Amino acid sequence: MKISITILLLFLLLAGMDAGAQKINIPGEDKLVIITDNSGPVISKDIYGQFSEHLGACIYGGIWVGPDSKIPNTYGIRNDVLFALRELKIPNLRWPGGCFADTYHWKEGIGPQSKRASIVNTYWGGVTEDNSFGTHEFMKLTELIGCDAYINGNVGSGTVREMAEWVEYLTSGSDSPMTRLRKENGRQDPWKVRLFAIGNENWGCGGNMTAEFYANTMKQYSTYLNNYSGNKLYRVACGPNGSDVQWMESLMKDPGTRDMFQGISLHYYSVVNGWDNKGSATDFDEREWFETFRLNLEMENIIRGHENIMDRYDPEKTKGLIVDEWGNWFRVEPGTNPGFLYQQNTMRDAITAAIHLNIFNRHADRIKGANLAQMVNVLQAVILTDNDKMILTPTYHVFRMFSVHQDARLLNMDLKCENYTYAGKSIPAISASASVDKDGKVHISLANLNPGKQITVSCSLIGEPFGKVTGEILTAVAMNSYNSFDKPEVVKPAKFNGFTFKDDILTVNMPSKSVIVLELSK
Ligand code: AHR
Repeated sequence: MKISITILLLFLLLAGMDAGAQKINIPGEDKLVIITDNSGPVISKDIYGQFSEHLGACIYGGIWVGPDSKIPNTYGIRNDVLFALRELKIPNLRWPGGCFADTYHWKEGIGPQSKRASIVNTYWGGVTEDNSFGTHEFMKLTELIGCDAYINGNVGSGTVREMAEWVEYLTSGSDSPMTRLRKENGRQDPWKVRLFAIGNENWGCGGNMTAEFYANTMKQYSTYLNNYSGNKLYRVACGPNGSDVQWMESLMKDPGTRDMFQGISLHYYSVVNGWDNKGSATDFDEREWFETFRLNLEMENIIRGHENIMDRYDPEKTKGLIVDEWGNWFRVEPGTNPGFLYQQNTMRDAITAAIHLNIFNRHADRIKGANLAQMVNVLQAVILTDNDKMILTPTYHVFRMFSVHQDARLLNMDLKCENYTYAGKSIPAISASASVDKDGKVHISLANLNPGKQITVSCSLIGEPFGKVTGEILTAVAMNSYNSFDKPEVVKPAKFNGFTFKDDILTVNMPSKSVIVLELSK
């Protein structure tokens, strides 16, 4: 009986929101209906992945200081960064790039650190790296964070043998030249490596290939990436640049190609004012604020375009879409190396993170992973460092607040909200998603994109009754409020009490420019 009432309500509410809203009397213009006992797919925790490239001060200085550094560290990894990262419950960490990945030769980064040859990071700033951070150091980092490794192999300037041997070195338990080498370097047991990418942006920095050429090359590489000793690789093929559906079509249409990967990547950055004239990360007006979110929301259209193709060839949804690079890309901070991509991070970036994570959650049936670009000191970072100092960015706080969605089940919802309009263009003023975790707790994540207006949203919860609601909010005085090394806590989360809960209607007063996560328990 209960099931049929839920189905009836579902029909009324989702087929005709207005009729449904009237029937259960949801007040106001901004309405959210959530069916709490009719959950959808699991939101893969891998959607909350991070990305660490050999780029600027991401690895060297930001994560790795070496065991002899005065900065407190564990096996050379700085403790302040490590402890902060643990709070995020990071599911996986992508490394060593990015464009750097297709220039990286892993054998140059193993063995005694003093004997490793230096390399020049030709892609990012032309700086010399001593190669003290290599495979063993990365695997130790993932172990200390408590996350999975997501390794990106070199297709562009590497060889099939080099990639195959890396997988063998990492994961094989048999006796072989590669596993003997690993043991000589101090690691007896094989590691587990699930996520492995076959090249990066091979339509660009990874070899400037056509889709057809890459598809054939990828098949060749993938053939030799073995599952050793119980390790099961999830091979990620290089997917499209933004909305390039032709690339997706080329990789998906042929069953022989499809069979060679489990996931396919997608990269999309929001670049206000275009690549040649990128906006500032901190010095912006409402036009750029609005434009940033308009570009962020494009992510959903791009995903839909690729989903259409993937659904045609893979209706069972066995292949995952892995958005392993996303975020805001602004001008570098004045006075910093243009090749290091170091940018500050404001309340605007916090809302960007909320918009993206809500989109990924809502597409959990196809999106099986995503990686913010990047984790430390590069682009939309969660952490910034300056010598021995470290700050958490507004984006960090959103990742921490949203971590409750990891491996929870997506809840059906219907959102009707007002628009946020600027200079004649409109976008929805609210971003939202909801999930139910294994303990039956419901989490609703919301963002108010309007920088000048409080919005009251009425959420109707259909299903089992809930007794208790708690909340957390991230907001700031100004659109461009940010945390600096002098003032590290300008933007930080606070307990949120701006709601009422009566007769299964949760009325939430969302301050302008805010991100809120609510928890409902029985
Ligand atoms: O994240 C910075 C760069 O952006 C990556 O190296 C590359 O893959 C992308 O173009």
